[in-house]
Amino acid sequence: MGTAESAYAKAVNGHYAPGNLAARIREGLRAAGKEGAALAPADLAPVDQFHTGGWQATAELAQLAELAQLAEVRSGLHVLDVGGGVGGAARYLASEYGCHVTVLDLTEAYCEAGEMLTALTGLSEQVRFQVGDAQAMPFPDESFALVWTQHSTMNIPAKEKLFAEAHRVLRRGGRLALHEIMAGNAPVIHFPVPWAASPESSFLKTPEEMRTLIIGAGFHERVWEDVTETALAWFQRRPAPPGDGPPPLGLHLLLGEVFPQTFQNTVLSLEEGRISVIRAVFERR
Ligand SMILES: C[S@@+](CC[C@H](N)C(=O)[O-])C[C@H]1O[C@@H](n2cnc3c(N)ncnc32)[C@H](O)[C@@H]1O
Repeated sequence: MGTAESAYAKAVNGHYAPGNLAARIREGLRAAGKEGAALAPADLAPVDQFHTGGWQATAELAQLAELAQLAEVRSGLHVLDVGGGVGGAARYLASEYGCHVTVLDLTEAYCEAGEMLTALTGLSEQVRFQVGDAQAMPFPDESFALVWTQHSTMNIPAKEKLFAEAHRVLRRGGRLALHEIMAGNAPVIHFPVPWAASPESSFLKTPEEMRTLIIGAGFHERVWEDVTETALAWFQRRPAPPGDGPPPLGLHLLLGEVFPQTFQNTVLSLEEGRISVIRAVFERR
């Protein structure tokens, strides 16, 4: 890795993951009464679905990608989850569809915590974690049938490289499924947000810019949906934490003290149309 890339990786690692992430999640599990028992992927949903819409959005994206049909013809479908965090979607795809999922994530502490959570759900044979940068994927050509990403592209500056890499590692006819935050109708958003403390670390493009980049990389569009309103409704439905602080298991564990502020700023930026949320499925030509 060059110096600039290392600085980038350092910035991403520094933003995500407060100290001792795996230990904090373990403590959360204990406080939630989920320690020791055999855990199902759904038990971890409060802490491992780090995107708008939570578990439901993951399930819907799998349906939109017609994973059931893909999985039927190819048992053990190979999936790459780009920026897959602590692996919530990966465990969902492994347990619901029998997929083999590789999580590629730049944040080492997320990969480490993800391995721990995967072991707790007994899915280590099907889900593996690899620390690395989506702009230079450490995989051979045509090694996956599905490339999946939820809420990671906001952190990725060279989107041409990202989509060129997604195309390269997908087999012909494979799918790219994405669920992403994109720019809205104003150049400025409220910081900090869950993906960045300041504008220097946020790389949003408009939906039309993203669409053009993806198609330009050699993909054919199958589905494109603006789910901004659904994302906003999801935030508004979330129960406020009781007066004595956050629940034992929640997304605050992934970001630390800054979490409530980032949460509020995301809602505000959504309400003001400064950001949008898109889900889409493309086919690799
Ligand atoms: C908001 S989190 C979403 C995590 C996960 N997709 C989910 O929905 O639960 C964004 C993730 O993208 C990862 N990420 C950011 N830039 C990346 C890059 N260049 N390559 C790989 N992962 C990256 C971060 O480390 C973080 O885990």
